[in-house]
Amino acid sequence: MAAADFPMMTTAEIRSAFLTFFEERGCKLFPSSSLIPDDPSLLLANAGMNQFKAYYQGSKTMREIGATSCQKCVRTNDIDIIGSDGRHASFFEMLGNFSFGGVSKEQACSWALELSTQVFHLPIERLYFTVFTDDDETYDIWRKLGVEESHISRLGEDDNFWAAGPTGPCGPCSEIYYDQGEDVGCGRPDCAPGCDCDRFLEYWNLVFTQFDRQEDGSMPELPHRNLDTGMGLERMSAIMQHKSSFYDSDIMQGLIKLGEDISGVTYVGDDYTGASRSLRIIADHARSVDFMISDGILPGNEGRGYVLRRLLRRAVFHGRLIGIEGAFLTRFIDRVNELMGDAYPELLKNAALVKGIVSAEEDRFSTTLDNGRVYLDEALAGLGDGEELAGSAAFMLHDTFGFPIDLTVEIAEAAGHGVDIDGFNREMEAQRERARANVKGDAWGSFNNIWSELADTLPATLFCGYEDDVLEDARVLAIVRDGERVAAAAAGEDVEVVLDRAPFYAEMGGQVGDTGTLAGEGLAATVSDTQNRGGIYALCVHVDKGTLAEGATVCASVDHHRRELLRRNHTATHLLDAALKEVLGDHVNQAGSLVTPDHLRFDFTHFDALTTDEIRAVEGLVNREIFAAKPVVTQEMGIDEAKAAGAIALFGEKYGERVRVVSVGTEEHPFSRELCGGTHARNTAEIGLFRIVSESSTGSNVRRIEAVASEGAVAYLEGRARIAEDAAAVLKCRVDEVPERIGALNQTLCATEQKLKAALTGGSSDAIAQAIDAARDLGAYKLVIARLSGLEAADLRNVWDTVRQKVAGPVACVLATVTEKGQPALLAGATDEAVSAGFKAGDIIKKIAPLVGGGGGGRPTMAQAGGKNAAGIDDALAAAERELGL
Ligand code: ALA
Repeated sequence: MAAADFPMMTTAEIRSAFLTFFEERGCKLFPSSSLIPDDPSLLLANAGMNQFKAYYQGSKTMREIGATSCQKCVRTNDIDIIGSDGRHASFFEMLGNFSFGGVSKEQACSWALELSTQVFHLPIERLYFTVFTDDDETYDIWRKLGVEESHISRLGEDDNFWAAGPTGPCGPCSEIYYDQGEDVGCGRPDCAPGCDCDRFLEYWNLVFTQFDRQEDGSMPELPHRNLDTGMGLERMSAIMQHKSSFYDSDIMQGLIKLGEDISGVTYVGDDYTGASRSLRIIADHARSVDFMISDGILPGNEGRGYVLRRLLRRAVFHGRLIGIEGAFLTRFIDRVNELMGDAYPELLKNAALVKGIVSAEEDRFSTTLDNGRVYLDEALAGLGDGEELAGSAAFMLHDTFGFPIDLTVEIAEAAGHGVDIDGFNREMEAQRERARANVKGDAWGSFNNIWSELADTLPATLFCGYEDDVLEDARVLAIVRDGERVAAAAAGEDVEVVLDRAPFYAEMGGQVGDTGTLAGEGLAATVSDTQNRGGIYALCVHVDKGTLAEGATVCASVDHHRRELLRRNHTATHLLDAALKEVLGDHVNQAGSLVTPDHLRFDFTHFDALTTDEIRAVEGLVNREIFAAKPVVTQEMGIDEAKAAGAIALFGEKYGERVRVVSVGTEEHPFSRELCGGTHARNTAEIGLFRIVSESSTGSNVRRIEAVASEGAVAYLEGRARIAEDAAAVLKCRVDEVPERIGALNQTLCATEQKLKAALTGGSSDAIAQAIDAARDLGAYKLVIARLSGLEAADLRNVWDTVRQKVAGPVACVLATVTEKGQPALLAGATDEAVSAGFKAGDIIKKIAPLVGGGGGGRPTMAQAGGKNAAGIDDALAAAERELGL
């Protein structure tokens, strides 16, 4: 086949040509959704259709005939293949057009052909089409559009039935392939679309989404005949740049070149092994890592966090394989941002955060890799020819060293060994079992059922407590006792209660639930907590007096004082967030928070411990805002409007269409503006005072601040003041004299300690004087053997000095003590003459140290040893005597 002769296009040109084509045909352009899907059945966004699930299912409708998008996707089911061919990757962009009843099959196929041949100018003789086994309709459509019979084939469920996950919208599909020519691929005579090789490159999948697969496997029809198409942008780039591999297209080449520069190895486009494979893996994984972190995923041990960690570690590992020494991954992040930041501005916005996290994770993994590698290499060296690495060893590497299993397999394979994956999986399952056994089970079954039942039958609770603390006429909709619905609760009972409207705030966004009372005719009840169970508020209630019955009208009152404290602390948390961003930088993102009546806790992304100056600066800013008595304004608005107004949304969090925005300060220049459903002070002055109590780490790159505000701050400071007063009372001085007094005491203490040491180790010590008196005259030298008390190992040297000064002429000693921590210490010393006469300090210590459970040695003139067993000291000294022939 002749070489491709259609005009070339860059990735950016293809992206824009595709989207424009469908916009011009009436499809609404949607930006890519986050890699964190809005869909609990899915771990990561894996297709353009993900964000349209509700349209497929019919709960959302669209005015336009359809939609178009370029979606960031991560798929890791083929992770082992990545790098070993020219068309698989973990991260890719999917161009798509979608319709929910508005576009016919004919239209969809005709557009696909038009775009392929008229816009991209692909020659029709290079295009091949597949349809689902018995989909005659689509077969005929392609024929009618002029496709030769020999270019259409029928494939089964594996190739031509598509679903995003185990449940949800799905349907038969038709795929379009580009024939790269006989010289690319396996060369087998029966090579055809669907073959595993690179020759026939599937670049566009047209799914006719008509079913909604359920948990039980049934597949009811969706309300419309829908359309979901996906074109792999990188594959299209390769085609349009006349390359046979995805990795030879412009963006991927930009990354591979960087890999070549850093490592010094040369990339060979058609070598799918060794260093070229590693360069592809690093380029691909670096893109995934950048996009994932930028969308709010942090490295972790489960779910998406684990996928991210695996990709990141695999990239680092392949860096090592091709000889890159030291950290390198952030350079790839920079390069990805250069190449893709125009199309995905979030990469540029989050660059500092991403790089901080990548470099911390890379550092940590490098250490792990070194340690684990020693373990793995030893384990591999112990294996016979062709023997498998045990599942327990692979599990150990996973559990203790954080080696992803595929990494272990890869290293083992390089050394010519397989891994017992079944054994590994059994260990993993056993670990999961252990974890499950640790969770108390029972109650949850019935407990969850009743609440999901109530959520299906009752309207969502209306929260009416932003302004009012008291609701005179709340109606009791349901009462739950021990996981069962009951009609009434009598005095003394503890139940959960659902009201139609509630002034009680249910625990959310870190703010704890409200407490208060319910009252009615003859009824008094205490509310000790409020929880949100799928939109229904569950009030934890103790009936103090009378009977609480379903259908009754009650007066619901929030504990006003406690709620005021919560308001102030919640607003203080927003001020803290804004102040941290101002002092530390934009990479600071909330990672968690807790707002209680007496204190608040705020977790945020940052890489280092805060310095005292930074803490003071943050505290100062928050207090400045408090003292400036700024109004706190809450507004409801559309999510887009809120974001345009600069409201801080939680990293990776999903919001509905209408959101509540809480701002502190003026409209144009708010000090803080956040999307938040919590309750807040009306003016910052209500907070009174703010104080940071502690700053610590909660794991990788997340710092935690605990703080107090308003009455909590006063209580905290009073507590501190009391400590100072108590200290002053003990020291018998004024509070302001305490530091000076303690300084002086410290000095006295040091001086006294030194005197004591001198007394214990110097010539005036009775114990030493006695030992010297008892010195034995061995003719050539005198020998002092002594067991002393109250000394540390280092003090023994001073004692030896003293002995040398006090004893005239040649002398040697063997000394022992038990340190303050209860550990034995030994020392032997000798003057040169004593050494010449045969006393070798090092030899003696080596001989006797084992008797105190230790080891040691040294020079002939001086040797020391420690140990674990103080009870062996007398034996050790006796052994020394024997050694000297005494
Ligand atoms: N959703 C279809 C796919 O991902 C288009 O292949």
